[in-house]
Amino acid sequence: MRKKVIAGNWKMYKTQAEAQEFLQGFLKHLTETPDDREVVLCVPYTDLWLLSKNLHGSRIRLGAQNIHWAAEGAYTGEISGPMLAEAGVRYVVVGHSERRQYFGETDDTVNLRLKAAQEFGITPILCVGETKQQRSTGQTEPFIFNQLENDLVDVDQSNLVIAYEPIWAIGTGDTCEPDEANRVIGLIREQIDNPDVPIQYGGSVKPDNIDVIMAQPEIDGVLVGGASLTPDSFGRIVNFGL
Ligand code: G3H
Repeated sequence: MRKKVIAGNWKMYKTQAEAQEFLQGFLKHLTETPDDREVVLCVPYTDLWLLSKNLHGSRIRLGAQNIHWAAEGAYTGEISGPMLAEAGVRYVVVGHSERRQYFGETDDTVNLRLKAAQEFGITPILCVGETKQQRSTGQTEPFIFNQLENDLVDVDQSNLVIAYEPIWAIGTGDTCEPDEANRVIGLIREQIDNPDVPIQYGGSVKPDNIDVIMAQPEIDGVLVGGASLTPDSFGRIVNFGL
């Protein structure tokens, strides 16, 4: 059975004081969370060590939002696998559409980052997804298949999570219909070599749509932005179906 991975992506939100406050409110929700799901928080770099020290003994897995492909070097502003691993990071988001759109991330650099994460024992969460214009012109499938083909060259599919995030659904409140997300994720699964790779949906996931999203047979989890920022809403999301 494929693992269910429920991940929050805080993006560029939360100082350490705010992260601490979140934890206080969030941990109590985990007492009822079934064991069949992995709970991940992908936080800003400055919050990593604080969470690492405070998560000891909790079931939350720590995640980061980017990783450089070199172990060290003259790469101002970047962060390496050994630095993340030392902080206890287990997951890292790679190829998020915001990185591709605003920071020049390409399929080639995404591929390098995926391989670096695996080299340092971190599970990458590879984000793929189409724009509104690609969807409206019938390019959804070829665009995503092309991303997968290029991003996954020589990537070990036994240590990988994929997130299908239609760009038009991110932060817009315009959720992809669950059965449509299920259909695209089923197609993604046909394109990859390992059928056991967990594939998440991301894009305006909220407490009021999580149950129907997670009821879809192909959807193995969610990557949550805005609704992961408050303890009660993310608590409701990790406890879907209860
Ligand atoms: O990484 C998370 C996604 O970009 C979704 O963000 O839940 O705020 O739409 P959102």
